[in-house]
Amino acid sequence: MTTGPSPLSTALDETHDPPLRPLPAAVAELLRDVGAPLRLVAHLRAVHDVAAQLVDWVGAHRPELAVDGGAVLFGAATHDVGKTLHPAELSAPGSRHEEAGRALLLARGVPPELARFAAGHASWDAAAGVEDLLVSLADKAWKNKRVPDLEDLLVAALSRAGGRPPWEEFLALDEFLTRVGEDADRRLAWQAAHPVRG
Ligand SMILES: [Fe+2]
Repeated sequence: MTTGPSPLSTALDETHDPPLRPLPAAVAELLRDVGAPLRLVAHLRAVHDVAAQLVDWVGAHRPELAVDGGAVLFGAATHDVGKTLHPAELSAPGSRHEEAGRALLLARGVPPELARFAAGHASWDAAAGVEDLLVSLADKAWKNKRVPDLEDLLVAALSRAGGRPPWEEFLALDEFLTRVGEDADRRLAWQAAHPVRG
């Protein structure tokens, strides 16, 4: 008997095209327990992988900027979990998954400071923390979508932390995001290969 892909295998099994870091095991189990569709698990894994690249890049490029990398990775790995309850939002726009996702995580004992990403990933302003900016940016950069006002907020944070002019930080971020974007088609194809239902 063969078994098809499951939330756990989609979250954790080694991938080659493209290579994607596995989701944290605790998140993979949570996604299994809530019955997350495979398309959603694949999306969370793709965004989590890009978030990890972003955290590594910020740490190497501007170590003066304090970033809670664990929070960013958890946030990226769970940001759309509310789409388990609103699966129509997997293939059409909608924001009902945002508050639903936070409530789902809180109900499972996730602390509010980690559950917040599920509710806040789709909006940003000057008051946003750098962790929130990085989760929102990963949710765009995985598919090579560039969002100038979001990038400007991260550029400002990098500039403040390192004392370098914003244009210099923009050039560095632009080069990094361009490199990340080169794998976007492979990430999109991998995600699309996972069914919306199931
Ligand atoms: Fe997303």
